Amino acid sequence: MKSETKTEAINVFLEETRNFSPPESFRKSAWVRDEKVYETARRNPEAFWASFAEELVWIRKWDRVLEWNPPDAKWFVGGKLNISVNCVDRWAKSELRNKAAIIWEGEPGEERTLTYWDLYREVNKFANALKKLGLKKGDRVTVYLPMIPEAAIAMLACARIGAVHSVVFGGFSAESLRDRINDAQARVLITADGGYRRGKIITLKREADEALKGTPSIQHVVIVKRGEFPLEIKEGRDHWWHRLIEGAESYCEPEAMDSEDMLYTLYTSGTTGKPKGIIHTTGGYLTGVYATTKWVFDLRPHDVYWCTADVGWVTGHSYIVYGPLANGATVFMYEGAPDWPEKDRFWQLIEKYGITIFYTAPTAIRAFMKWGTEWPARRNLSSLRLLGSVGEPINPEAWIWYHQNIGRGNCPVVDTWWQTETGMILITPLPGVTTLKPGSATKPFPGIEACVMNEKGQRVEVGGGYLAITKPWPAMLRGIYGDPERYQKQYWSKWPNIYFPSDGAKLDENGYFWLLGRVDDVLNVAGHRIGTMEVESALVDHPTVAEAAVVGKPHEIKGETLVAFVTLKDVGAPFGGARPSQVQGQAQGLPLQKLAQELKDHVAKKIGSIARPEDIIFSADLPKTRSGKIMRRLLKNIAEGKVLGDTTTLADSEVVNRLKQQYEEEG
Ligand code: WT7
Repeated sequence: MKSETKTEAINVFLEETRNFSPPESFRKSAWVRDEKVYETARRNPEAFWASFAEELVWIRKWDRVLEWNPPDAKWFVGGKLNISVNCVDRWAKSELRNKAAIIWEGEPGEERTLTYWDLYREVNKFANALKKLGLKKGDRVTVYLPMIPEAAIAMLACARIGAVHSVVFGGFSAESLRDRINDAQARVLITADGGYRRGKIITLKREADEALKGTPSIQHVVIVKRGEFPLEIKEGRDHWWHRLIEGAESYCEPEAMDSEDMLYTLYTSGTTGKPKGIIHTTGGYLTGVYATTKWVFDLRPHDVYWCTADVGWVTGHSYIVYGPLANGATVFMYEGAPDWPEKDRFWQLIEKYGITIFYTAPTAIRAFMKWGTEWPARRNLSSLRLLGSVGEPINPEAWIWYHQNIGRGNCPVVDTWWQTETGMILITPLPGVTTLKPGSATKPFPGIEACVMNEKGQRVEVGGGYLAITKPWPAMLRGIYGDPERYQKQYWSKWPNIYFPSDGAKLDENGYFWLLGRVDDVLNVAGHRIGTMEVESALVDHPTVAEAAVVGKPHEIKGETLVAFVTLKDVGAPFGGARPSQVQGQAQGLPLQKLAQELKDHVAKKIGSIARPEDIIFSADLPKTRSGKIMRRLLKNIAEGKVLGDTTTLADSEVVNRLKQQYEEEG
């Protein structure tokens, strides 16, 4: 009893000392200084969102703010606008004309600065070049580029002519690229000869050529010349970017887009083997990312803002390109890795460019922690005034390390929860008003209604359950490309008219949200979303594999890594029902260790190296229920080294015990 009271007291103490109020110096000049905004937005959310939309440039004003026929929302109905005008023309024709829009550094060290005027000129010329290739409003364009300014230019040029872009992360394989091109039926692919990562070259065009062997919809390929990379040009189909814009007109009339016209699709993993093309539209999306960029990052004219995400993910769309540029911000963009040539590359860049706002992922922060404080300590980071985190739950230790060693104790840390589907940040502190608790994304952004619910759809006041978003929001997804049924089923069928993000969450006594990670078969590896089914399909595609089950296992830096349990075809003879580890044997002529390596490479080749399994466990059998369903929960427990739990529904409980023993033996 006594010791329990003591622990409680310690916990209370920790709880209190771990609350961080906004520093006075920050609060004084923040966009939002008064908590009243929450109440104002709650009372009239439509008026609240409309007030942000009023700050944008519209060709025709909307008639109604919201039309909500669950699960279909329309925002700013009847409004017409062009996003590239809001992100570029607006500033290029103002006193910000000569302000840096994008400051870029390549991994080898090249520097480029595009003012708003430069960006305006580039976007217009490239938009005209796309038109010359026959692209029209509504056509799809796939973008497969490294982190270079042309990625933003390409997206904005598409937006200008009303073409729908689909950016594919440059780390995805040829096959993943092909599937995404085909699903979107893209007419044009924009890529580069290559890029740099950790001192190595990445031959993007070669990867693209491989994909292009099976993409009948593609008529033209535009190639950015990034360096001297080996490549082949297919006459008639392939065009150099710099040649195309040489003769292009310097003004392209922006297309008047309906508020609900499609802006882009972005593929993300789900619980089936097939990635979903998430649809985002124009007016509501821009309003949502504009508002959250302004308030969450507290953007000021003098800021130099750096979000370390890749444009291939939604973070790059909303918080490198659209949100910051719609705010007239100066965006810093970097091509390479944080540890090349040395582990202080990011800190060196912050010092060099005087970065004021830095937005990164917990997985990166944990890597920085591991590398040690000496790396940031040797650089001057005093320009920083705000830090952000996104992509996965941030553990309190990492939060505090980030706050102390990068923010030197005086930068608010905004932990922002959102998803590809939400388009914009939904749960986040407002840095000028919110008292921060390390590890908590704190509260829904003003105008956002979220709660924690149990299975039955009852609200949990204090405690754990599922995160639920109970009202529509402007940047919400409008569907899954080509699959309206899946849209309804995936997001709107758990509870009536309530959005289900598939995340677990806990609410504390102060109404703070603590995000607990995914509750479906989607893993979060180093901040990347990976569907277990996709990896399983890739494994089963290998000629030796009969069956595969993939689960996550905690990892110090990546948060989670993939463990694959695999049964091989024809294992009868070499294993004879015994444990493969005891057999030291051969599988179809290959030593098992070599086969494991080959399977890992196979997955990397099929999907991309982000999906490469960390461990492969061969087994003569997988644990299944009597109805034949693989029991992933059990496998997860084995991978995590936990006790096994209930195995009574198992068809053959021996399988599990055997696997567990084998896993422990193999370490
Ligand atoms: C999933 C969405 C949002 C852009 C990057 C990822 C997890 C994201 C947080 C956070 C806890 C987070 C969730 C979510 N997640 N941010 N701050 N705290 N979890 O986008 O690939 O669509 O992944 O990432 O599990 O569902 P995404």
